[in-house]
Amino acid sequence: MAPIIRLPLFTFSGTGNTWWVARQIAAALNQQGITAEAFSIEQLSREEIEDLVHRADTIGIGYPIYASDAPLLVQDFVHNLPISEPPKPALVFVTQMEWSGNGAWLLHHSLESRGYRVRWAVEFKMPNNIGMHIFPVPSTPNFAKFTPKLEKATNRARRLAGSILAEQEWIQGKGVINNALSLLQRLPWRLALKWTQTHTWSVDAEKCTHCGRCERICPVENIRLDPGGLPIWSDQCNLCLRCFNYCPEQAILVYKKPFDPKRNGGQPYHGPVPEFKPELLARKK
Ligand SMILES: Cc1cc2nc3c(=O)[nH]c(=O)nc-3n(C[C@H](O)[C@H](O)[C@H](O)COP(=O)(O)O)c2cc1C
Repeated sequence: MAPIIRLPLFTFSGTGNTWWVARQIAAALNQQGITAEAFSIEQLSREEIEDLVHRADTIGIGYPIYASDAPLLVQDFVHNLPISEPPKPALVFVTQMEWSGNGAWLLHHSLESRGYRVRWAVEFKMPNNIGMHIFPVPSTPNFAKFTPKLEKATNRARRLAGSILAEQEWIQGKGVINNALSLLQRLPWRLALKWTQTHTWSVDAEKCTHCGRCERICPVENIRLDPGGLPIWSDQCNLCLRCFNYCPEQAILVYKKPFDPKRNGGQPYHGPVPEFKPELLARKK
């Protein structure tokens, strides 16, 4: 008989890929008799996190890769995890368009300092969620095109569940070359981060209908509406692209330019499956 393991998957997902992978991992673990559930970290209170961690045998953390780095709110989440004594095993899973360097292994020191030992650090290739004029790699909103990637990711989730059940470690992103190449990507990203957080977004006041969706779905409450209902960004942006990708009017501008309807089949990325909506993950208000 498989041992009963409780494994909460603490997940951040900007545009749906990591959400989808977390659910595949949970389903594959459930099939193996492991009690796993995916949670959006945006929706959990401090008390709920403490309770889930306290009852867990192993914890899971999932996030999208941003330039070989973890999103800021995930870094914060890890730094504030309840201290585990004795140490608990941890699973880290990341989603990426193509390459994450040591992004899956990156947080192992921080996790160790809170009492968690990373035994699984696994990468999942998912569709590109960046569809803007400054980025040369194409993206598409065509769900049918994602099938091969999603099938591979499902198989990988099953393989991961098998290795958790067998207590076999699976670590990706470790190693000197990976480390060095990741640094080349991560350092400029971190150096430019403050500037990028404060200079990227603005709104086309003619197109904006003041619906407030951007404000409601921002994972870090970085957007407020001015008295006329137009969004204003503060300086805590995580660059997750949720506001840009999910504005119903495509009214959000990147460096003063709108989404280019000639790119990406005319629509920004809307997640890997049609049922994804950012409201599924966002803080309840
Ligand atoms: C700001 C930003 C930086 C990214 N950097 C990388 C990267 O370095 N390597 C990569 O393969 N994908 C990169 N991506 C793509 C995402 O990691 C990928 O599409 C991810 O699955 C999105 O997950 P989500 O839908 O859960 O937010 C980046 C995306 C964003 C928004």
